[in-house]
Amino acid sequence: MQVIKQLSKMADFSLKLRRKGRKIGFVPTMGYLHKGHLSLIKQAKSKNDIVVVSIFVNPTQFGPKEDFKNYPRDFKKDKWLAAAFGVDVIFYPAVKNMYPAGYCTYVNVEELTEGLCGASRPGHFKGVATVVAKLFNIVQPDVAYFGQKDAQQAIVIKQMVKDLNMKVKIEALPTVREKDGLAMSSRNVYLSKSERKDALVLYYALNNAKALIKRGEKNSARIITAMRKMINAKKTARIDYVSMVDAGNLKDIETIKSKAIIVLAVKIGNTRLIDNMLVGV
Ligand code: PAF
Repeated sequence: MQVIKQLSKMADFSLKLRRKGRKIGFVPTMGYLHKGHLSLIKQAKSKNDIVVVSIFVNPTQFGPKEDFKNYPRDFKKDKWLAAAFGVDVIFYPAVKNMYPAGYCTYVNVEELTEGLCGASRPGHFKGVATVVAKLFNIVQPDVAYFGQKDAQQAIVIKQMVKDLNMKVKIEALPTVREKDGLAMSSRNVYLSKSERKDALVLYYALNNAKALIKRGEKNSARIITAMRKMINAKKTARIDYVSMVDAGNLKDIETIKSKAIIVLAVKIGNTRLIDNMLVGV
C-alpha cells in the first residue's frame, strides 16, 4: 500500500491506471476509520481493480465553533486498517496544498442544502461539495462510496455529480451500527459512558417510528411527535431536528408514501449525532 501526499502525484497515479483500463474505486474519508468506512472499502475492493482511500479532515466543512481542531485523528491506526483491508493507496493531502493561499473557488449545491443539517450547520455542505469535487478531480475515480448515515450528504453529492456532468458513479451503502444499534461515527468517541447509553435513543426512536408505521400510522406529524417525546425523555439530549422527508429531494412529507426517510440530528451532551432510516411503504 502506498501513501500519497502530493496532489499531482495522486493525479498522475490515477491517470496512468485509467489509461490501462483499470477501474478505480474511491472512499473519501476524514480518517479515524471505523466499521462503517471499512464496509465501504470492502465494497470498493470487490467491485474495482484499485481502491483509493482519502484521509483529509476538511476545514471548510466545519463552522467556526465546530470541532475541526479536536476532530479525532489517528493516522497510524488508519494506515494499519487500510492495509489490512487491501487498500492500494491512501491519499493524505495537507490542508495547505488543498487550500493554498489565494484559494477562492467553492461548489454550492442549492436547495438540497438549505434544510436539515444545512440549516444548523451553515456552509457545511458548501465545504463538503467543494472538497469532494476537488478529490474527484485529483483521484479521478470510476466509482465513489459514501455512507447512507450521512443521507443528506449522499443526496447532495449525487446532485453535484449530475449537475456538473462529473463522470463518477456514486454509491451510498447502508449504515453500519454497533451491536446495540448506535450508528458508527468517528464522533462517538466524544461520548462519556452515560452519554453513550443515552445516544441509543436515536436508534430506539427510529425503531419506534418504524413500529408505528407497521401498525398503520402514516401521519408524519404524529410519528415525529412520538419520536420527540422519546428523545426528550433523556436529560442529555437536545433535538436539532426530527423530520420525515422524501428520500429523493429531502422535502418534508405529511403522509408516508414510498421512498420516505426519517432523519434526525440530536445533541447528546456536546456531541451532535445524526441518524436516519428508510421507512417508505
Ligand atoms: O463524510 C465524510 O467523512 C466527509 O464529509 C467527506 C465526504 C470525506 C468530505 O470531507
